[in-house]
This record gives sequence, structure tokens and C-alpha cells, in this order.
Amino acid sequence: MKHMPQVPHVPDRPLDALTSIKVKLATLIVGAVSVTVFVFWFGVRIVHVWPSAAGIIAAAVALLLVSRLARGMTSPLREMAAAAQAMAKGDYTQHVTATSHDEVGRLATAFNQMAAELAETDRVRRDLVANVSHELRTPLTALQATLENLVDGVATADPRTLTTMLGQVERLGRLVTQLLDLSRLEAGTVPLDRHAFAVEPVLAHAVREQELNDAGIAIEMRVDDHALSADGDPERVHQVVANLLENAVRHSPNGGSVIVRARRTAESVVIEVLDEGPGIAAADAERVFERFYRADTARSSSDGGAGLGLAIARWIVDLHGGEIHSEPREPHGCRMVVTLPGAHPQPRQSEEITQ
Ligand SMILES: Nc1ncnc2c1ncn2[C@@H]1O[C@H](COP(=O)(O)OP(=O)(O)O)[C@@H](O)[C@H]1O
Ligand SMILES: [Mg+2]
Repeated sequence: MKHMPQVPHVPDRPLDALTSIKVKLATLIVGAVSVTVFVFWFGVRIVHVWPSAAGIIAAAVALLLVSRLARGMTSPLREMAAAAQAMAKGDYTQHVTATSHDEVGRLATAFNQMAAELAETDRVRRDLVANVSHELRTPLTALQATLENLVDGVATADPRTLTTMLGQVERLGRLVTQLLDLSRLEAGTVPLDRHAFAVEPVLAHAVREQELNDAGIAIEMRVDDHALSADGDPERVHQVVANLLENAVRHSPNGGSVIVRARRTAESVVIEVLDEGPGIAAADAERVFERFYRADTARSSSDGGAGLGLAIARWIVDLHGGEIHSEPREPHGCRMVVTLPGAHPQPRQSEEITQ
């Protein structure tokens, strides 16, 4: 929605320049009383009309003056009431004229900002629903087609068909898990279990899990300081590293190697995941952290990713007050850098990851 610029003075709204309702009301009262007194005096003393006639004329002139001066004082309130009703019905395009500088004007400006933010939230929600439906439909359609072929006897339930079907079901399961994770993170329903934890076991756990998938990609772990500890929720940090490793392995060329390393800086712990794949183009470097954004749609969709892994990683890192970004790597490849603030020297004893 477009924001109208604040107009300092509109001829139709003579009191807009005054910055408070109190001052406006005082101006109105003083103006009305002065005009009444003057017209009455003029009528009785100069024109010599009956005092009652002079009174009526004075009252009429004062009324005219007040209605002229007060124009625009309450119209934003009426506009806001109408806009709020429209919003309740889902129409966020309404705009209130906010030209005055008093409390009503400021309220109207705040109202317009709120409307713009609600419109944006609504757009994001619609996009999310559309994306989720699309992502769910793709594997479902494939499953349905294969099942129909099996029922019709066109295809046989050989291991290849069943493996394909299993792949689709797994993709659906992964998507639902990621969506749940994202909604929990966004809603803040699962608070961080934050404490000092040893970094090396968390990385090692994520590497072992990734190696179980056996993509033929060697993963090398480089943590010089075995006692390196960070401040955070180890399960969530594990989730971040697992997501980064999954991406790195998926984008690695055959025989490529992936490195995961961690080090301490003055005020934080930096975890990096490096690969030898095609890397992420500068134009996509920020967008890959958006929900459902895939830099290479053709490749990613066939590989089963929905574009949620990095969005989840960023939410988790943000919750820790940290930072995550991607950098290009020479000669080619991607370097994902996670910075977790506030390293503590003493991790809890016998830290176990239960994932
Ligand atoms: N290591 C990487 N190398 C190249 N591209 C990557 C890498 N990691 C992520 N990307 C790009 O970022 C996109 C978003 O990643 P992500 O959120 O994990 O979604 P997904 O893995 O489900 O596609 C990916 O589709 C891919 O295009
Ligand atoms: Mg991913």
C-alpha cells in the first residue's frame, strides 16, 4: 500500500497546522466568542437592530465560522472507523487522510502504518498457503498416479516402484516436519534450552547422521580446540548444522569434499560449512534464507528440498542473537558462516544430543 506524504497545510482544513486538539479547541472557542461579541456589538451599537435579532445573527455567524474552522478535525476519525470495518472484512487497501499535525493526525498516520503492515502479513500468509499447498501436492500427485497404475494393473509393485513411492512419502514427511518446526520457531512455543555446550560433539553428531545417507561425499571436521564451547541450545544448533551439511552434500560434485569447522573469536563462536559445489550467486545470497526460495528450482525440486532448510536455520540463529550468511568460495563452492554470540568456558557435564 502506498503511503501518502504528510501535507503541511490543506486550505480545506484550516486548523491542520496546529499540533494539539487542545489548542484547536481553544482557538475555536476564542474565535467563536470573539465573533459573537463583535457581531452583537456591531448590530446593537452601530446598525441599531434589536438585541435579540443581533443575538441570532451573531450566533449564526459564529456557527458558520466554527463549522468552517473545524473542518477536518473529526473526518479522519470517521475515515478510520470506515477503514477498520473494511479491514475486519479483509480489505487492507483503505487509506486514511492524515494531514493534520495533532493527536488525530498522528493516530491516522499510525493507523495507515498498521494497515500497511497487516496487508504485508496477509500477503505473506497467502503466499505461504499457496507454497505449502503446492509443495504438498507435488508428491501427492505422483503417489496417486503410481497407486492408480498399481490398482489398474498397468504397473507392478516391483521394488523400483515401491522405492519411488517411499521417496515421495519421505518427502511429504520431511516437509510436514519442517513446516511444524518453522511454525513452532515463529510462534516461539518451544523456547531455547540455552546453556554452555561443547561444540565438537554437536558437529560430530550432525556429520555422522549425514554420513549415514552415504552420498559418497567425504565430510571433514576441523575443530582445533576440543574444549570449544558455545552458548546456545545444542539441539537447535545441531539442526542448523545438519541443514547446512545436507545442502553442502547435495550440491557437492561427485568425489567432492565438505568441511565443517568451528573456532572461537573474541566474542563468539563461528561455525562454517564449506563445499566444492556451484556456490550461491550473489543475487541469491540473501534470498536463499527466505521460506520456499530455491536458487536452482529445476535441480532442487527433483532432489526433494522445499526451500525451508535455510529459513529454519536463520530462525534458530536469530533466536540465539547470532548471524548466518553465505559467502562464495574460491575457486568455486559455498561457505556458510554461522556466528553464535557469547562463548562460555564451562559446558554442562556429559552433554547428550537426543535427536
Ligand atoms: N551449499 C549450497 N550450494 C549451492 N546452493 C545452495 C547451497 N545451500 C543452499 N543452496 C541454495 O539455497 C536454496 C535454499 O536452501 P534450503 O533452504 O536448504 O532449501 P532446500 O535445500 O530445501 O532446497 C537451495 O534450493 C539452493 O538453491
Ligand atoms: Mg536444504
